[in-house]
Amino acid sequence: PSADHYQLMEWATRYFQNQLKTAPQAIDYLKGRGLTGEIVKQFAIGYAPGGWDGLRQTLVRSAATEAQLIELGMLIGRDGGGSYDRFRDRIMFPIRDRRGRVIGFGGRVLGDGTPKYLNSPETPIFHKGKELFGLYQVKERHRTPARILIVEGYMDVVALAQFGVDYAVASLGTSTTADHMHLLFRTTSEVVCCYDGDNAGREAAWRALENALPGLQDGKDLRFVFLPQEHDPDSFIREYGRGAFEQKLDDAQSYADFLFERLTRDLNLSGEAGQNELANKAIALIRRVPEGFNRESLLTKLSVQLRWGENEKRLREIFHR
Ligand code: UTP
Ligand code: MN
Ligand code: MN
Ligand code: MN
Ligand code: MN
Repeated sequence: PSADHYQLMEWATRYFQNQLKTAPQAIDYLKGRGLTGEIVKQFAIGYAPGGWDGLRQTLVRSAATEAQLIELGMLIGRDGGGSYDRFRDRIMFPIRDRRGRVIGFGGRVLGDGTPKYLNSPETPIFHKGKELFGLYQVKERHRTPARILIVEGYMDVVALAQFGVDYAVASLGTSTTADHMHLLFRTTSEVVCCYDGDNAGREAAWRALENALPGLQDGKDLRFVFLPQEHDPDSFIREYGRGAFEQKLDDAQSYADFLFERLTRDLNLSGEAGQNELANKAIALIRRVPEGFNRESLLTKLSVQLRWGENEKRLREIFHR
């Protein structure tokens, strides 16, 4: 009887965990990143050895399992037949679905090679834009988490958990999608985005905001943390500690403030041209927010920005055109 997809992924996870035990360079790498054995175990982090067929030799028992492992992205099929391991000489992060089943992996090089992270391709059980690394672990610990943090990287999630911030998830080498936002707002009422402090991170925050707008039903809140340029959540919490990190969370910027700060960045609002541009851009975004308190308060804020305060009705007329 052939094993199912999930069973094979579980065996692959165990294989990588076992390989880690006998790979001092991989253990040293993880220690060098400050990870404890406990957290490595908790996330079932492992190691894919450097050969071309370690996993293949261990898991392939028949042509059928080989075909399955190719379908799962764990092996790469050769043109003339046969196959070889996709992940070689990498630290392996298993990605679980909401039921805890391993559906894919992210694999990090130990040094400076490229790509830095190699992820499982889309497979019958793995859909990048729909899954979040760490969500299963968050829900294991918190039935209904008060807030969920969304970060960029696997290492961010793991390091934060090690420091006790055990409510972070990461998207998988894609930007945060509308599906991710809907998924998170089904689980919690407050999502806090905390991307890397570099420009890419700031752009990722803006895209996340755009994607989140349709999910902002009443009672849902979205906030943003901006880290210093050179930091990501992993490096920040290691340098400044849990208290400083959680202070950042408490001081996070509201989505409305982020939205208007960004839209008004290069506009001169004392002139009509600037005001019209702001009105057009803001209205296009606000239309994506569900009817209700969140939308109304954005409209009120927009009228303040436009200095149309006494004239808010005019704005609402334009909005409903
Ligand atoms: P970063 O480059 O910020 O990596 O990419 P990181 O998580 O801080 O990694 P470390 O600390 O150097 O180990 C953020 C995330 O983007 C995806 C991964 O999910 C990564 O965690 N990514 C990045 C890829 O999928 N492929 C890459 O080559 C790089
Ligand atoms: Mn907790
Ligand atoms: Mn980055
Ligand atoms: Mn990092
Ligand atoms: Mn990073």
